[in-house]
Amino acid sequence: MCGIIGYIGNKSAEIESVNLLKNLEYRGYDSAGVAVILDGEIKVTKAEGKIANLEQLIVSTGANIGIAHTRWATHGKPTEVNAHPHISDNNEWAVVHNGIIENFEMLKQEIETNSGVKFASETDTEVIPQMLEYLSTSHQSTISTFIHACNRLKGVFAIACINKNIPDTLFLAKRKSPLYVAINNDEIFVASDPICFVDKANEYYTLEDDEFCKVSLNCVEFYDINGNNIAKSTIDMKDFEQFKGKEQYPHFMLKEINETPTVLNRIMKTYRDSLGFGKITKEVMQDINKIVIVGCGTAYHAGLMGAKYIEKFVRIECNIYIASEFIYSNPIIDKRTLCIFVSQSGETADTLSAQELAKSKGALTVGLTNVLYSVLAKKVDIVLPVCAGPEIAVASTKAYTAQITILYMLARYLQNIKFNSLFDYIAQIDTLANLFTLPNLQPIQDLSKELVNQKSSFFIGKGFDYVSAEEASLKLKEITYINSSAHPAGELKHGFLALIEDGSYLFVIATDEALLDKTLNSAHEAFARGAKVVLITQLDVDTSKTNFVYKVLQQPKFDDELMPIVSIITFQLLSYYTSVAKGINPDQPRNLAKSVTVE
Ligand code: AGP
Ligand code: GLU
Repeated sequence: MCGIIGYIGNKSAEIESVNLLKNLEYRGYDSAGVAVILDGEIKVTKAEGKIANLEQLIVSTGANIGIAHTRWATHGKPTEVNAHPHISDNNEWAVVHNGIIENFEMLKQEIETNSGVKFASETDTEVIPQMLEYLSTSHQSTISTFIHACNRLKGVFAIACINKNIPDTLFLAKRKSPLYVAINNDEIFVASDPICFVDKANEYYTLEDDEFCKVSLNCVEFYDINGNNIAKSTIDMKDFEQFKGKEQYPHFMLKEINETPTVLNRIMKTYRDSLGFGKITKEVMQDINKIVIVGCGTAYHAGLMGAKYIEKFVRIECNIYIASEFIYSNPIIDKRTLCIFVSQSGETADTLSAQELAKSKGALTVGLTNVLYSVLAKKVDIVLPVCAGPEIAVASTKAYTAQITILYMLARYLQNIKFNSLFDYIAQIDTLANLFTLPNLQPIQDLSKELVNQKSSFFIGKGFDYVSAEEASLKLKEITYINSSAHPAGELKHGFLALIEDGSYLFVIATDEALLDKTLNSAHEAFARGAKVVLITQLDVDTSKTNFVYKVLQQPKFDDELMPIVSIITFQLLSYYTSVAKGINPDQPRNLAKSVTVE
């Protein structure tokens, strides 16, 4: 959450910083701001809402050093006053921050009491510039003031700051939130995501936890927590995919759903050519007696599907946890546990904390992540790439489809290892990738128009289809704001049937032939109470069973276990078109952010 930028160079600092910031809007869009040093003074421009609002206010002043921020508010309303950059009372320091300063109340009180300074905002972040001012006199060098101030902060942070008296230098700090620096001949770029450096630099540095950096055009220096210099090497940008933007699509979300066939083919290439699961060998698995999968939101749903695949095919206990619950549940794991952490971004704070806990208990940790330079990818013992390519829309689509495909393949791979079977999962997914087509849009678009005025909706399914129901329901609520819930079909009569009334939309996912009749029984019970039943099933289903159904959306037929990869696309598209029909920007739904770097 929150994107931070730093820039030094021969171009306009305001324009360059804000242009770079646009690459980070997926991290939050509550407010945006930029600070530059001009004629020895700090000049700040801020705006509520999206970066476009800030862009209208900025003018190029000739400044060539700046910091910028796009915010996802944690402390303090999303107002202009609370927008970053925050400045010290004496206007000497300006700071942008990603994270949460957990002890800010205590520090604020100390500073206010001892120095009489009054804070201007409600944020936790403002304590940083005020602390820098407060400590300035007691330290010999600016970098030692900076390190000392950061060492007093508890919590999570990536910080970029400028000091008006040192107009050629950026000061950077990192603990848990990501921060990267790239240098080319005459420019310096700092960002929360190295995607900002594509086309700008050939290599970049990654700050690790509790590292600090002082960077100007003449010199880059890294320090540890005690202020000792540390040597760092750079990472090549060559593996970064050229980021092509939205191309012909009106939104990233639609583009990303349409990329599903490409992603399936990329998965095939990666997992076939490099024996993707290679490090999870038979020898490794001999010591494992339990698998645990951990994730948040959509990644958790992918994990739910993965656990079903693993229990079905590998016949090994597989527990699934929401990351934020895992951390506080004293989970029963040890060195015989294989823990899989699912995260598109590889940055989700809860998932990272869960991985640390699992590692501390001796578990073998695997990261299924889409971002190979992410913190998660660096921390786990084994990385499984999601292969989805950059996912910008807040609602995860192609990454989810990719995650469940890879978890299916993993389960089949482990099945082969355990039972010495030779099931050809590669050929099976290859066939799926080759035959996969996106669904017919017309019925989906027609249905989306009907959903526009709905206040609530319900999703049911059994087995794999229940997991699809959970993900479909999340997709709908996060980008259309329609209150929706998902339930195992058999749970209908144990409670939520009370909510069904005339005209309620009940989405019934029944792609697994073996479970179709039982699922339809539940659908009948809701129909009898006035529900409009929308059935998502396979092409060769016997339609005489479904004549009570309001609408049927039929999917091409694949093996039952592969149907979730196919059926979820219909719901991603339905949510997308409903969102657009409601006048919402599906890429940036209210209150959410793509990357959740705070617990
Ligand atoms: C996805 O549509 C959601 N925006 C959200 O649930 C997301 O999946 C979750 O925050 C986990 O993110 P991660 O995969 O990057 O860890
Ligand atoms: N805590 C800071 C704020 O509310 C930064 C938030 C974040 O990184 O998400 O402004």
